[in-house]
Amino acid sequence: MQFAGYTLRNNLFVAPMAGVTDRPFRQLCKRMGAGLAVSEMVTSNSLLYGSAKTKRRANHEGEVQPVSVQIAGADPAMMAQAARYNVDQGAQIIDINMGCPAKKVCNVMAGSALLQDEALVGRILDAVVRAADVPVTLKIRTGWDKAHRNALSILKIAESAGIRALAVHGRTRACGYSGEAEYDTIAAVKAEARIPVIANGDITSPEKVKRVLDATGADAVMIGRAAQGRPWIFREIEHFLATGEKLPAPRVEEIHQLLRGHLAELYDFYGAETGVRVARKHISWYTRGLAGSAHFRHAMNQLPTIGAQLAAVDAFFLGLAAQNDRLYTIEELAA
Ligand SMILES: Cc1cc2nc3c(=O)[nH]c(=O)nc-3n(C[C@H](O)[C@H](O)[C@H](O)COP(=O)(O)O)c2cc1C
Repeated sequence: MQFAGYTLRNNLFVAPMAGVTDRPFRQLCKRMGAGLAVSEMVTSNSLLYGSAKTKRRANHEGEVQPVSVQIAGADPAMMAQAARYNVDQGAQIIDINMGCPAKKVCNVMAGSALLQDEALVGRILDAVVRAADVPVTLKIRTGWDKAHRNALSILKIAESAGIRALAVHGRTRACGYSGEAEYDTIAAVKAEARIPVIANGDITSPEKVKRVLDATGADAVMIGRAAQGRPWIFREIEHFLATGEKLPAPRVEEIHQLLRGHLAELYDFYGAETGVRVARKHISWYTRGLAGSAHFRHAMNQLPTIGAQLAAVDAFFLGLAAQNDRLYTIEELAA
């Protein structure tokens, strides 16, 4: 797919998720078939640039290109500065977050709260496009609430500012994560758009990707929660879209090795102490729904060191694989 001046492997994108889409997770998803992975959002508050967290979020060493970095904030000048800073740190695409309803973001009137103020949206987009000498993309929800679905006006503002692509999460800000994503609004946006539109929200399987692409006409899909602990979902979707056939689910042994590799990258990226902490949620996602996993997760969450965490993961997965004389698929064990 051609996207913002880059040729991507496909039109399957990893949605930006704060606390999840760090560099190790983005790399893993790209290796498993994602065409693009957007970073966790980086605050536009320059006072925080010195923090370890912000520095880590701006670290793209060795990342599969193109590197797309999301910025969030409500002040046009600060957003422009944040864009320049991240381009200097290696961002090849700047993505603007007007799609996240998280309190921390909305309290300072950023993320999806901005959709209320279209004039301000225009000023932010103009300032960032002017400041960044790389393509700029935008992520929005369908509107502020059900009575104010202004995705179409935002599309027009975005196009006239020179935004190169628009990702739409099919919910209003007020909807949080409840209800089914409304794909008809995304279809309406796509019908009017001169820039690529990316459909997002509740996409959980290869079949659903096909249904959403057919229903919306979108150029790409963006997947968030369904990729947590399941980075191979991109491989499954890519195969299904190419052949119409479903790949067999991965076997426990493969998942064990994938998780092992993911953990090694987390420890390396964050250091031992933070790495063990960050790894806990990923381990929990990988083992969700598996026999005995609730007890395992409870025990694993108490373990303070890399050695203890790895030993527990190994014991859990080897125990699963030993349940029979053949290797199970993850789906059989979850059944
Ligand atoms: C843990 C978490 C963190 C998120 N952080 C961000 C963020 O930093 N920026 C953003 O634009 N959206 C963020 N989102 C929203 C997702 O990008 C996506 O729009 C939403 O989860 C719907 O897609 P899904 O149904 O595939 O998960 C976040 C979602 C989750 C679950």
